[in-house]
Amino acid sequence: MKIRAILAAAAAPALVPAVAAIAQTVGDSATAGQVERRASADSGAQVYRQICQGCHMANGEGGRGAGAFPALANNPRLAASAYPITMVVRGRGGMPSFADLLTPDQTAAVVGYVRTHFGNAYPEPVTAAEVRRLAGGPGSEE
Ligand code: HEC
Repeated sequence: MKIRAILAAAAAPALVPAVAAIAQTVGDSATAGQVERRASADSGAQVYRQICQGCHMANGEGGRGAGAFPALANNPRLAASAYPITMVVRGRGGMPSFADLLTPDQTAAVVGYVRTHFGNAYPEPVTAAEVRRLAGGPGSEE
């Protein structure tokens, strides 16, 4: 009897908005949704705008002031693709690892994008195979 009463109360229409609000809050703070949205980006430009731009700025000019976020624009360190790939898959210092967020294809796309934009002209393509190799291969990250 008691259980029935609780169930009835839970189903009461008055509670529905409250539950919806909680669901909304959870949805807003959960990274799972964000990860899914972000992971749906399939071009290097999209990945850049959704992830990298927040720190490296819209034109790769990097953070101002203390210069905590290095410029990717006109950056000769992008010449060898292994360096930017390793940064993205492993991270370093204030640069997070994106190995869990981006697929090898997405990492290859965004690294290819920054190497061919913002004043960089390193046309040699970046491949998902290279990303996998530098990440240590599937399953060997943990
Ligand atoms: C949360 C902020 C943040 C985000 C997001 C971010 N980075 Fe970084 N990135 C950094 C910081 C901080 C450094 C400097 C790390 C260091 O040298 O210790 C850095 C360094 C780099 C470097 C090395 C630059 C150099 O001159 O040595 C590359 C390449 C790079 N990031 C690419 C990317 C790409 C591509 C993305 C998107 C997938 C990205 N970053 C997203 C913060 C960020």
